[in-house]
Amino acid sequence: MLNLFKKLSLRPDNFPKHIAVIMDGNGRWAQKRQLPRSLGHAKGLDSVQKIIQYAHEFKIQCLTLYAFSTENSGRPKKEISDLTILFDKTITEESEKIFANNIKITILGDISFFPDNLQKKIQDLLTKTKKNNGLSLNIALNYGGRSEIVRSVNKALSKKKLPKITEKDIERNLDTKDLPGVDLLIRTGGEKRLSNFLIWQLAYSELYFEKCLWPDFNKNNFINALLFYQSRNRRFGKLNN
Ligand code: IPE
Ligand code: IPE
Ligand code: MG
Repeated sequence: MLNLFKKLSLRPDNFPKHIAVIMDGNGRWAQKRQLPRSLGHAKGLDSVQKIIQYAHEFKIQCLTLYAFSTENSGRPKKEISDLTILFDKTITEESEKIFANNIKITILGDISFFPDNLQKKIQDLLTKTKKNNGLSLNIALNYGGRSEIVRSVNKALSKKKLPKITEKDIERNLDTKDLPGVDLLIRTGGEKRLSNFLIWQLAYSELYFEKCLWPDFNKNNFINALLFYQSRNRRFGKLNN
C-alpha cells in the first residue's frame, strides 16, 4: 500500500476522512450519445460502484453521494419515476454486497417524497447496516442543505425550549450529526457550484471541480482529487505555525 501511495505521489498521513461527491453530468453523458437521460443515470451507477471501490482501496472512512436534490423534484415526472425505479433496483441488487462489505448506510434528506415500498426498503437497509463499522456510505436522497438546516432548527426547538439556538444545537440535529466533517468535496460535470449540497458542512472543506461527466469518472480522476487535497494548506482561519 505504501509503495502504491509513493508511486502516486500520495502522502499516507494526509488523506481526507470524509469525501462528499456531487455526481453531476449523467444527462449530458446520455445526450451526447443521443440516448435517453435515464441511461445516463443507469451508467452513473457504474461510477458509484467504482468510487466505493476506490474508497475501500484508499481507506477513506466516509463517503457521501448526492443522488437526488430537493430541487430535482421539479424535473419531468418520467425522469423522477425512472430514477425512483433505479434507486429501488439498486437496493435490491446491491444489498448483499453492502452487508458482505460491512458498509454502514446513512440517508441524508427527506425520503417521505418517495413511494412507500421504496421508503420501506431504505429503512430496512438502514436497520440491517446500523451496526456495521466499515465504510460509512451516506446517500443524499431528496436532500437540500437549506431544508436540512430548517429541519434541524425545528428539531432543536422541539427538544428544548431555549430562547436561543446555538451552532452546536444545529449541528446535533443535522442529517449528518453522526458523521465527521467533510474534508473534500468533488463535483463532476464542470459546474462550479454547490447546488444546495451540504451548505452547512462545507464551510471549511476543500472544493475540487472535475470537468468529466459522472459516468466517465475513473480512478485517475479520484487520485487527482486526492492529490489536489494533499496540496492544500488548511488553515481554518488561523495562521500557519
Ligand atoms: C446528476 O446528473 C444526477 C441527478 C441530478 C439525479 P444530471 O441529471 O444533473 O445530469 P446533467 O447535469 O443534466 O448532465
Ligand atoms: C446536483 O446536480 C444534484 C445532484 C447531482 C443530485 P443538478 O444537476 O441538479 O444541479 P444544477 O441544476 O446544475 O445546479
Ligand atoms: Mg446536472
